[in-house]
Amino acid sequence: MKLHVWLTWKNKVNIRNIPEYELARLREKAKEINGSPTDYENEYSTLLTRRLNHEPLQYIEEFVPFYTIQLKVDQRCLIPRPETEYLIELIKENTEPSKGILDIGTGSGCIALMMKVLFPDVEVSGIDISQEALSIAIENAQLNSIPVNFYQSDLLENVKTKSVDLIIANLPYIPQDNLDDLDKEVIDYEPLIALNGGVDGLEIISRLIQQIESNDLTNLTLCLEIDSTKSKQTLDLLADWKDVKLLKDLAERDRYVFATR
Ligand SMILES: C[S@@+](CC[C@H](N)C(=O)[O-])C[C@H]1O[C@@H](n2cnc3c(N)ncnc32)[C@H](O)[C@@H]1O
Repeated sequence: MKLHVWLTWKNKVNIRNIPEYELARLREKAKEINGSPTDYENEYSTLLTRRLNHEPLQYIEEFVPFYTIQLKVDQRCLIPRPETEYLIELIKENTEPSKGILDIGTGSGCIALMMKVLFPDVEVSGIDISQEALSIAIENAQLNSIPVNFYQSDLLENVKTKSVDLIIANLPYIPQDNLDDLDKEVIDYEPLIALNGGVDGLEIISRLIQQIESNDLTNLTLCLEIDSTKSKQTLDLLADWKDVKLLKDLAERDRYVFATR
């Protein structure tokens, strides 16, 4: 392969930092783009340069597996994390929605789409403030032939229906002062609106809890994915709720809060 012709000297040195399994996946993607298993050096060097510039492998590959489905991902949405796949498992084990499910901050649509797979008889909606995220969530619904209603809303602002008995929210929770500490893969490529949780990281989550309370929504379960360092403050925000549970991820970190009202 005449790869050395295409890469800069700096990139030729840095290529050693990319694990072999990633190089193998980039080669496979290059073959797919090229449409042939040979003579794909141009495509491979372009993809390699993107990866050397810290673009996440998932954006380069364009698709990620999520629980039982495949999702398209690009810079319009956050890359779904394994912790969120585990949230799906916990929801499956701990909740029994029958009226309606609302996924707030849907991003790629991963949670909303999996909810419809797991609870096919329940109406599922996914909302996001970002029109760009919604456009990819809609593509993912079509790709997987899963009927979910996606629309734009700032938290509950445009949400009309009151017949919801399960609200799931994986909202941005990184304190704005910590954003600069994130890996380049994250801060240079993933949407800021999916990461920035305001001054204390809890601005958006606490606004959602206030909206649910002031709209007097009852007979529902709220499932939140949170930053493990914010569990105490999150439990404080839910002081007036019932059956409040703090659940751990597979690394034993406090990552989810379930509560009913
Ligand atoms: C951490 S990402 C989660 C995306 C997806 N649910 C997942 O688990 O991969 C947070 C999402 O919340 C959306 N978001 C941020 N502020 C919002 C708001 N005020 N109302 C609705 N969605 C919001 C972002 O656009 C982003 O898609």
